[in-house]
Amino acid sequence: MILGIIGCGAIGTDVALAADKMEDIEEIYLYDKVKEAEKNLVKKLRKGRIAKNVDELIERSDAVFEAASQEAVFEYGEKILESGKDLVIMSMGALFDDDFRERLISIAKRNRCKIYLPSGAICGIDGIAAARTGGLDEVTLVTTKPPESLGRKDEKRTVVFDGTAREAVRLFPQNINVAACVSLAGIGFDRTEVKIVSDPVAVRIHHKVLAHGKFGRLRAEVENMPNPNNPKSSYLASLSAIAILRRIVDPVQIG
Ligand SMILES: NC(=O)c1ccc[n+]([C@@H]2O[C@H](COP(=O)([O-])OP(=O)(O)OC[C@H]3O[C@@H](n4cnc5c(N)ncnc54)[C@H](O)[C@@H]3O)[C@@H](O)[C@H]2O)c1
Repeated sequence: MILGIIGCGAIGTDVALAADKMEDIEEIYLYDKVKEAEKNLVKKLRKGRIAKNVDELIERSDAVFEAASQEAVFEYGEKILESGKDLVIMSMGALFDDDFRERLISIAKRNRCKIYLPSGAICGIDGIAAARTGGLDEVTLVTTKPPESLGRKDEKRTVVFDGTAREAVRLFPQNINVAACVSLAGIGFDRTEVKIVSDPVAVRIHHKVLAHGKFGRLRAEVENMPNPNNPKSSYLASLSAIAILRRIVDPVQIG
């Protein structure tokens, strides 16, 4: 398989380094709007090539991995799927735009290709996705952060937001990818509840997913370490991206 990666930052680098070691991946095409980022990454890869532009990357790749920005998803998403290539989206906050998301899905259906959304910085998405079929009554995402990462100076635990996922991402865009993932896996942006908590005791970003339904009750929690290459990104996000890549290339699918 030939892989294209758009975005050579923290996640793109982790995915490229993992893909470089995968037997089933023959070549890795890279594209970043910052040329220096492409050059730095290609040097670390055996199978790496720099694409002249996005069109060349799409043409040469069997699947494209977006690890860039929401703008990149808006700019290239439709083009990638129109070319019949599978697309992995990390910047899934772009999918809050209902019209855009529906357009991507209908292009993917027409061209028989897939859109993969890694679970990113959270856990429990497998359970939420499975439970959806039987009927989910309630899904809540509770994100707890140290006050400074919310730009606050709270001296005691404070709930700074309690409302729908759609409203949460409008007010707290830093929470956008996890809220999008939980919403899309389960009951959508308007029924998924989000709580954002500022806690001076917290040293790491903590996400808790709670769900109730006919299946029973689910509670999944994660305390994230920062990515060594970008402290603003959770390391688990890169690891989930690599897991998706394995899913694409491996004949055995777990979960
Ligand atoms: N799903 C999740 O849970 C999750 C978790 C962390 C990050 N993310 C998202 O994944 C994306 C990548 O994260 P990161 O930590 O690797 O970021 P990063 O800042 O380390 O790297 C992003 C790279 O993409 C490039 N880029 C941005 N827009 C581009 C465009 N339009 N065309 C080409 N290149 C472009 C930048 O130059 C940069 O090199 C971000 O959008 C981030 O919000 C998702």
